[in-house]
Amino acid sequence: MSVVKLLCCLLLTYHLCEGKKIKGSRAAPPDARQRGRTRGGPDVGPDLGPGGTAFRLLLDGEDTCTLDPPRLHALASCGFNASNPLIIITHGWSVDGMMESWVLRLATALKKNLAGVNVVIADWLSLAHQHYPIAAQSTRTVGQDVAQLLRALQKQLQYPVRKAHLVGYSLGAHICGFAGSFLEGPEKIGRITGLDPAGPLFEGMSATDRLSPDDAEFVDAIHTFTHERMGLSVGIKQAVAHYDFYPNGGDFQPGCDLQNIYEHIAQYGLLGFEQTVKCAHERSVHLFIDSLLNRDKQIMAFRCRDNSAFDKGVCLDCHKNRCNTLGYNINRVRTGTGQKLYLKTRPRMPYKLFHYQFRIQFINQTEGMEPSLTISLTGTKEESGDLRITFPEKISINKTYTFLITLDKDLGELMLLKFQWEGSALWRNVWTRVQTIIPWGGRKGKPQLTVGRISVKAGETQERTSFCAMENDVQRVDMSEDKVFVRCKDNTARQHRRKHRG
Ligand SMILES: *[C@@H]1O[C@H](CO)[C@@H](O)[C@H](O)[C@H]1NC(C)=O
Ligand SMILES: *[C@@H]1O[C@H](CO)[C@@H](O)[C@H](O)[C@H]1NC(C)=O
Ligand SMILES: *[C@@H]1O[C@H](CO)[C@@H](O)[C@H](O)[C@H]1NC(C)=O
Repeated sequence: MSVVKLLCCLLLTYHLCEGKKIKGSRAAPPDARQRGRTRGGPDVGPDLGPGGTAFRLLLDGEDTCTLDPPRLHALASCGFNASNPLIIITHGWSVDGMMESWVLRLATALKKNLAGVNVVIADWLSLAHQHYPIAAQSTRTVGQDVAQLLRALQKQLQYPVRKAHLVGYSLGAHICGFAGSFLEGPEKIGRITGLDPAGPLFEGMSATDRLSPDDAEFVDAIHTFTHERMGLSVGIKQAVAHYDFYPNGGDFQPGCDLQNIYEHIAQYGLLGFEQTVKCAHERSVHLFIDSLLNRDKQIMAFRCRDNSAFDKGVCLDCHKNRCNTLGYNINRVRTGTGQKLYLKTRPRMPYKLFHYQFRIQFINQTEGMEPSLTISLTGTKEESGDLRITFPEKISINKTYTFLITLDKDLGELMLLKFQWEGSALWRNVWTRVQTIIPWGGRKGKPQLTVGRISVKAGETQERTSFCAMENDVQRVDMSEDKVFVRCKDNTARQHRRKHRG
């Protein structure tokens, strides 16, 4: 895994260094209007903005129709419907000068899954296909092009800019930000979504030099590749939006690690290397597409101080907008300060996982244990299967521990919790010896654990279920014994009350 990260950063550093050299030797960027590298795109008219960006409206199927900002009569003939919202997709830095396949995937997913929407692809490939620093410098210019298109729509069709939603990937995210800041007047762009906004040359810059919450009425960002190597990270680490989502902590993504590099190379040849490097960065796009395709599997994310707190399971709270939906269907409620939201995902689509917080308190125990527990949960819909829980330290008396558990299925209402305590390897050995030496020793000498309150909270439903020992049983667990706890009797009453309060 770390090898991939290292290679990726080397690739990036290489491009940064190369870019500096090029910048010194070449006075002006190459002619922005010189085009024709895009696959099958129609020819572009002569009157483009300063960045030479071409805007293509997606028609039915995969055909596009080029919009020409200064002469918007093309709009009607392209089928632009001014009563519908507008979504503009902006790509990022380009290594090979080709439009990446996700662009059309995202465009068609938007068109097919949203009723009545204008989907436009902003093509700035000729500037994007430069060394990274030059491409990064061009983001302002391309932002002007986008702003110019929106102004033209405003003037000629009285099309309100708040009906526009800009979706930008990597450098494209900052382009959207600049587009927002170039628009004067009281009215702002409705929404900007930054898909893993680019880090190098933007991280730590002031809000006017990158995507920021001021650039639109509502700004959301999904950070998927912020792992830092040699002071650089491909995606920006800092929060840049009203809601910043950090799936799996944001630094790297499951399914993108070294094992997959071989699969990718087998599948794509040497391009497989690039596929692997892009995997985590591009995951932001696929998470967004997932939110359109799998409407019944919307991903929930929860506000948290940082990822390590989230991993402890202490952040599954939804009060006062502390949780939100990742992707297109985000709840656009604004809160005073920016929010960092965390979540776990599967390695492939549909990415949704269900988050559970497991809380357990220990009353007493035989001294010196570092227990390792296996629990399994049974709900009205599904069973969890065995879940291993390892304690980071020796357990302390009366202390409550919390853990995050993620499952790819919704268990329904929780009914049973099965519990097995394995103890440490050392204790297992000692106990086996003791039993062998004094076989009549009985349970007296056997290591014991007495548990107090046990509860499980489902992040997705916000329901907390407490578990109690079965009737006529005690809260004591013997080593290597299955112990079943059931939903406590007072659970129903408590939930009933909660519903009425809410
Ligand atoms: C534009 O969209 C609206 C609502 O989505 C629809 O009622 C109308 O027929 C559309 N106009 C055209 C010309 O397709
Ligand atoms: C542990 O607590 C239980 C119940 O509170 C008690 O019955 C038992 O004697 C205690 N065991 C030890 C070793 O303190
Ligand atoms: C644990 O809590 C119980 C009751 O709250 C208390 O009596 C006991 O002294 C506590 N034990 C420790 C070790 O703090």
